[in-house]
Order: sequence, then C-alpha cells, then structure tokens
Amino acid sequence: MSELNKIALKILSNGKGILAADESNGTMTKRLDSVNIPSTSENRLLFRETLFSSESMKDCIGGVILYDETINQVSSLKKPIPDMISETGAVPGIKVDTGAKVLANSPEEKITEGLDGLRERLKKYYELGARFTKWRGVFNITKKYPSKLSIHSNAHALARYSNLVQECRMVPIIEPEVLMDGDHSANDCLNKTSEVIKRCFEELIIHQVDLTGIILKPNMILAGNKSKNKISNEEVSSKTLECLKNSVPSEVPGIAFLSGGQSEIEATENLNLINKNNDTNFLITYSYGRALQQSALKFWSENIKNLTGTQNIFNHRAKMCTLAAQGKWSKELENR
Ligand code: 13P
Repeated sequence: MSELNKIALKILSNGKGILAADESNGTMTKRLDSVNIPSTSENRLLFRETLFSSESMKDCIGGVILYDETINQVSSLKKPIPDMISETGAVPGIKVDTGAKVLANSPEEKITEGLDGLRERLKKYYELGARFTKWRGVFNITKKYPSKLSIHSNAHALARYSNLVQECRMVPIIEPEVLMDGDHSANDCLNKTSEVIKRCFEELIIHQVDLTGIILKPNMILAGNKSKNKISNEEVSSKTLECLKNSVPSEVPGIAFLSGGQSEIEATENLNLINKNNDTNFLITYSYGRALQQSALKFWSENIKNLTGTQNIFNHRAKMCTLAAQGKWSKELENR
C-alpha cells in the first residue's frame, strides 16, 4: 500500500468523514453575516476551534479541510491548529485553489485558479502538518452549459494540481461540483455530472496521477433546486451510484460527497441510502461544510458563550453522518 493510499484510507475508513471548514474569508463572512456575527479573524477562529475540540472529532472526523487563515492560527491554548487536529486522530488538510474566476471566452462559466506558485505553497502547508488538499472546480447546468471549454479546462487544472500535490506527498481531493442551481432534471444532473467526472479522470490518467492516492469529492445526483420534478431519496441513491459506476475508475479508494446546499437531514438520509445500496468497492462518506455546521453555527450565534451546547449539536450531526456513511442511520436515531 502506498503512503498516499494509507492517508486516504485513514481519512475515509470506519464511517469517518471530512469536516469541510475551509470557507474562504469571503464565504465565511456571508455565513457569519447570516447569523449576525461580525466576521473577525477571532470569531472565525473561535467557532472553528469549538468544532475542532468536540468529542466527535475522535470517532467521526477523519480529516478537516482548513483555509489558509486557519492553518496559520493558534488555539486559545496556544497550540497550532493543525497540531490540535492531528491530536484528535484526524488528518489536517488545506484548500489550495484560489477561487473560481470568470472563464475567458465563456463569461457565464468559471475556471478555478491557483496553479501559479502552488508547488511552493504546498511545501509550506506540508511543513505546517497538512497531509491532504482540496481544489474545487465548479460547473452550472443550463441548456448550453457546462460547455466543453469549461469541462476541459477545469479537468486539466484539477489534474495539474493533483500531480503537484502528490509530488509533495499529500492526497489531493478532486472536487468537480456540478451545482444544484436551476430547473434541470435529475437526469440532466446525472448526464452532466458523469460527463464532467469522466473528463476529470481522462486528464488524471494523461497526467499519470496515482489514482489510489486521491479522494473524489462529487455532488450527489439531484434535480435542480428550481425543478418541479424532484426525485425520491431512493432515486437519488440509485442515480448517484449509477454515476459513480459509469465514471469513476475502480482504483480510486473513496468518494466523499459535498452537501451542496442540501439540508442537514437530506444530506444525511441520501448518504445513508447510497451506502445501504452501495454495490461498488468504493468507501463512500461525507465531506460536508454546511450540512455539518449549519445548526451548530446558528446555536452558537445565539449563545456565543455556550461552547458545550454548540459542541453537542456538532457532535450529533457528525455522529448521524458517520452512521449514514455506514448505512446505519435512521430517523429514530436522528430524533432520539
Ligand atoms: P458544502 O458541503 O457546504 O457544499 O461544502 C463542501 C465544500 O467543501 C464545498 O467546496
């Protein structure tokens, strides 16, 4: 087993999943604004540190994706944040793309940037303790999109990123997110997501990326959020598994889904059914941002001194997601 494969398995095995706490300062400011908390560096750290010192870190969270600001911060007990995470048994990770910018020649689409100077930044993050990384490409569905141009250029960037990350002995998370925004059908989502993922693997193979040392972070297959034809959770599960089977090579050790705007319960229930019906060899788990943090953030914003209460809410969410990653979640356990 390669060193990279071992890291990937450590993050994903036994129902563990990933806490995506890598919101950029811009995104985190939107999240904090929505609950009327000033987005200062201290507040961003306090909320995140509260999650990182929760009980469920040990049994549920295999990896935490950090943002550049956080990986350089120290906790209230003066411990560097990546060390604080490693001590719980979870692997520290880092978002390394520098964001999605307007794609030249297709201004309604985005291309993710961040390759310039990446090799040097990766070395710095490795020294700080990171052992995995994240890069997100983003695609929207309309009649015209995603265009071949956006699919090819984002897949190419993801492959170049992956090679640099593996060269630096870290596991790249490859995140091609097909957004749920729009009125498209679930079958449109299935077709477009499959096309995007297939193209990503074609590029990864051309670049000779070690597929046993990556983690794929895709969206689930859902109807658009403005579609009148929503599908059942069972159908989400079967279409999502169909997508993985038709587009992901079998060497890939695991899949960690993003939540992408699903509610906490929806994201948990869908993951549970996907695992119940999982007839692949992939480990299938979560890499959730909003679907792990939303309720905890809301509670914290209203009870800013009640860190234990905030942790209790996060612990429950993490436990439910970890049950779902093993196909063992139920509504009864959720409401107990
Ligand atoms: P959500 O689970 O909130 O979609 O965030 C996951 C993520 O890391 C997006 O890049």
